Amino acid sequence: NFSTWSPPGPGDVRSPCPGLNSLANHGFLPHNGKGLTVPILIKALNDGMNVGADFATVIGGAGLLSVPGNLLATSFDLDNLDEHNFPIEHDASLSRADCYENNGDNYSFNQTIFDTVLAYYDGMNETSIQVAAKAKYNRVTTEEKRDPKFTYTPQQFILSYGETALYISVMGDPIYGVAPIEYVKIFFEQERLPYAEGWRPPTTQTNLLTLGDMILALNAANGEEIPEGLEITTNTLK
Ligand code: HEM
Ligand code: MG
Repeated sequence: NFSTWSPPGPGDVRSPCPGLNSLANHGFLPHNGKGLTVPILIKALNDGMNVGADFATVIGGAGLLSVPGNLLATSFDLDNLDEHNFPIEHDASLSRADCYENNGDNYSFNQTIFDTVLAYYDGMNETSIQVAAKAKYNRVTTEEKRDPKFTYTPQQFILSYGETALYISVMGDPIYGVAPIEYVKIFFEQERLPYAEGWRPPTTQTNLLTLGDMILALNAANGEEIPEGLEITTNTLK
């Protein structure tokens, strides 16, 4: 629950996702990070961060695809999500190195990379869609230049915008994306929900509709070109 937190111990597994890792560290998900099903995710995302069952089902279903050698898996372990580009983990993460740039370690929290995101918030106490969007686009242009295996198709475009939308939604609010930087740092750097510091789950639910709208707002804010073949209209990704 919110007031119990412990980092992973021997035998526990974690993922490239600060959201799921935080939920496991608090015991909303199994602390060992293993045997996650869609129903387990639905309950944990709802109870821990007021994230909707629609998102939990769609992204949880993608998580199931990452189980090696089993297209019909009904549960996965957090470390299955390290699978590069299949289907979720991608380059230009906010707080992880690219797979090729870091000898395959695309899952460990990386302070050097996360500091380049935090630098955009220099002098600010809270996030904003404007600044979050610029920090995200910088990660893309940075890795595009230095990672010879850089991959960024419509799939990675949507996922990476969705993840920026997620942290400013769950640490702040899913409409305006205003989150205290202090909370955002604790979420990424400690994989902890900053309950002791005053954070509470947002009263507005984060779901596919709020995320879709926020992806559009983020993209409008940084002016990044939409990849060819992807057409984005309000509340519709087609
Ligand atoms: C990445 C948040 C649920 C799988 C991320 C990132 C954030 C995030 C902020 C970006 C990390 C970065 O760029 O460094 C959340 C929140 C969730 C949630 C708040 C719900 C409470 C899920 C679920 C799954 C998932 C349900 C799959 C079953 C992943 C994966 C990545 C990721 C594989 C790595 C992508 C990458 O950066 O390469 N998540 N997430 N997440 N998330 Fe989640
Ligand atoms: Mg990544």
